[in-house]
Amino acid sequence: MILVTGGTGLVGSHLLYHLSLQNDKIRAIYRTKTSLENVKKVFSFYTNDEKLFSKIEWIKADITDVPSMIPVFVDVKQVYHCAAFISFNHKDYREMRKINIHGTAIIVNLCIDAKVNKLCFVSSIASVGGSLNNALITEENEWNKESDNSGYSITKFGAEMEVWRASQEGIKVIIVNPGVILGSCFFNTGSGKLFSKAYNEFNYYTEGITGFVSVQDVVNPMILLMNSDVKNERFILVSENKSFKEIFFLMADAFNKKRPSKKIKPWQTSLFWKISWLISIITGKEPLLSKYSARSAHSISNYSSEKIKKTLNFEFERVKKTIENVCKNYTNY
Ligand SMILES: NC(=O)c1ccc[n+]([C@@H]2O[C@H](COP(=O)([O-])OP(=O)(O)OC[C@H]3O[C@@H](n4cnc5c(N)ncnc54)[C@H](OP(=O)(O)O)[C@@H]3O)[C@@H](O)[C@H]2O)c1
Repeated sequence: MILVTGGTGLVGSHLLYHLSLQNDKIRAIYRTKTSLENVKKVFSFYTNDEKLFSKIEWIKADITDVPSMIPVFVDVKQVYHCAAFISFNHKDYREMRKINIHGTAIIVNLCIDAKVNKLCFVSSIASVGGSLNNALITEENEWNKESDNSGYSITKFGAEMEVWRASQEGIKVIIVNPGVILGSCFFNTGSGKLFSKAYNEFNYYTEGITGFVSVQDVVNPMILLMNSDVKNERFILVSENKSFKEIFFLMADAFNKKRPSKKIKPWQTSLFWKISWLISIITGKEPLLSKYSARSAHSISNYSSEKIKKTLNFEFERVKKTIENVCKNYTNY
């Protein structure tokens, strides 16, 4: 039995589809019935065959609630742990610690208890250390706890520590560190919002650089690594490093919309996140821009995917092609 957590999210739902092509015994957890509709949309994005979705056994469970998770682990041999809480809002830090660190500790304990064979954890480039002078960042770059890290980055690093603990207890582990994931069917949350912005002709851009990857190029290496002899390794998954300007231009072109024309300077984003923060304190609403989103809009980080390319002889889809495919799905959506 293969278990997937976070199966109702962007990564987990695309992963479930790809797993369902080759496996009959797949279990996934969900928290609300409405989130299952997202997964059905993802399956219908790939196929009209409803049999694939019906292969999945769904159990209602929360990774932070041990009693709900105990039946989930019966007969499980492989675990893909994709569930997480992604936020750059300072108010969400405690909840993020609970889900990302404590939740992963629970998954690890249950994996040890059930003697699962292999665990794959979806981490992030947020838990890989930076570099000096814009040098290429590899899996060896150590995360620096002394830096001004975002709450998300701290909790993803904390979760990785739990996964390494599993490896010390004899579980084979794989950690993947994807860049910004671009994929279909999730346009109101996370990276999907970039597509919505471009479609609505958002007129501003920044020149920060980071790594981007398609959701298919996240889930396929995960499956290949889990079915290989590779163990106790982490892999950066980035197709190309691009500026937000390039990404917005590619999206605008794919949608046949106007490219953004106004460059935002670092002092402007800095002022904006401070005002947003003040307003959020007064209104209790989520800030329009957080300190860490503002910082990443301008910071330059170039990631190397040489390790995964060499290990699996893997070729990533070009970001331009990914964006064109996702934009096509957005307009049909
Ligand atoms: N999106 C990106 O650009 C990106 C980039 C790098 C790394 N990652 C990592 O990739 C993984 C998947 O991200 P995603 O984009 O798929 O996120 P997502 O779309 O927000 O999905 C998150 C998933 O986690 C589940 N979840 C959250 N809290 C849970 C809890 N307490 N118990 C059970 N399930 C819970 C959610 O369930 P509900 O449907 O019930 O909310 C959902 O299925 C995460 O670990 C994230 O850190 C994402």
